Amino acid sequence: MSAVAALVARRVAPVAAALATAVVFLILALLPPLRRALLRWEHVASTRRRWARACRHAGLETANARVPRIVSIRRLVSGDVCRVKVPAGGNVTALEQSTETLAAALGLREVRVARDRLCGTYAEVVLAKGDPLADPTPLDWPDLLADRLSLWDPVTVGVDENREPLTVSMVERNILIGGEPGAGKSAAASLLLATAALDPSVKLWLFDGKLVELAVWQRCAERVLDFHAEPAITALEELQAEMNVRYRTLLTADRRKVESSDGLPLYLVAIDELALYLNGEDRKQDRRFANLLRDLVSRGRAAGIIVVGATQKPAADVMPSAIRDLFGFRWAMRCSTRDASDTILGAGWASLDYNAATIDPACRGVGLLLAEGGVPVRCKSYYLSDDQLRAVAQRAARLRGRRADDESPALAVA
Ligand SMILES: Nc1ncnc2c1ncn2[C@@H]1O[C@H](COP(=O)(O)OP(=O)(O)OP(=O)(O)O)[C@@H](O)[C@H]1O
Ligand SMILES: [Mg+2]
Repeated sequence: MSAVAALVARRVAPVAAALATAVVFLILALLPPLRRALLRWEHVASTRRRWARACRHAGLETANARVPRIVSIRRLVSGDVCRVKVPAGGNVTALEQSTETLAAALGLREVRVARDRLCGTYAEVVLAKGDPLADPTPLDWPDLLADRLSLWDPVTVGVDENREPLTVSMVERNILIGGEPGAGKSAAASLLLATAALDPSVKLWLFDGKLVELAVWQRCAERVLDFHAEPAITALEELQAEMNVRYRTLLTADRRKVESSDGLPLYLVAIDELALYLNGEDRKQDRRFANLLRDLVSRGRAAGIIVVGATQKPAADVMPSAIRDLFGFRWAMRCSTRDASDTILGAGWASLDYNAATIDPACRGVGLLLAEGGVPVRCKSYYLSDDQLRAVAQRAARLRGRRADDESPALAVA
């Protein structure tokens, strides 16, 4: 009997030991994910508790004592994005109006609410803690060393509050960049210009109100205009004529818009210090420029003409709202007032806490980008130093077959 027991022990012992080892390894392997899951569960539960308490402080309780409820939470570097359901008898507008009280009650930097576009019962609520964009160190453009880019692809322009790269698709779009002096408008525009320059098929037309801001791209450009009104107007007339030719071509081909397979080049028309061209010394010239620009912005998209405008404050006395409102994409860098922020992004965004006047003046390049998503995204643009700009422009000029001693189009105009 004892011999049988010894035999069994000899056979079973190694199996038991192997099993025990496997179990220990399994527990060790499962510990980190288990720990993460537990921490996540704890975070979700405590956020829900604190949120419910904050809603009560903000007077968001309904008649039957219910408050807006967090149904899901996505963690960001800088806080949380929650999907919130308002109870019967409540509404998202009340939530929007309570963001300051909620931020104070939760001890957060900011609470932002955006109503679900399809259902009034739900809202996306951003609970922002620290500011991940506060670091003033410039961020290197990821495409800095690219040999070649395509403007048909999304353009990498910056990082969002989760430090995730942010892109904008510029095809069939126009963008207006605004903000106080020195906020980073030209720096942001230079990312779009760099991408366009590195796409040798793109025709660059530069309107440089400051003369020096876009100078680095001169050798990549088809036309460069300075602050003189008449040549700028003539250039817009040429663009308008090209646009009309393209529409006739599209009509003949039974098509409605230019596509990448057509071989028709995109135009990128960059106008820095836009207000300058709209507020010159001669009223008639201002009006002619404004009319041409309005036509280009409203009809140019499908013809492959993309307008990038940068100006400090596009208020009605500086820029006709008929033009401003046609820009589909808006990028508000820091502004001095909430009105100025609304002027750039569109009326009403500041009251929903998308207010570029709250951006720290020390945070150059931080702004609110209103693009594809339809809701402004707080972001920081990548930055190209002067040396980097020169290097990219040189590479782009080579790509376009321009030599260093080629006459620049600016000189040709002057
Ligand atoms: N994304 C950024 N990251 C870091 N620094 C930046 C960024 N953007 C701009 N800056 C800094 O801010 C300065 C001003 O930027 P920029 O010339 O683009 O401002 P602007 O809004 O065009 O000003 P203005 O209205 O005077 O033309 C830059 O020289 C640079 O030092
Ligand atoms: Mg500028």
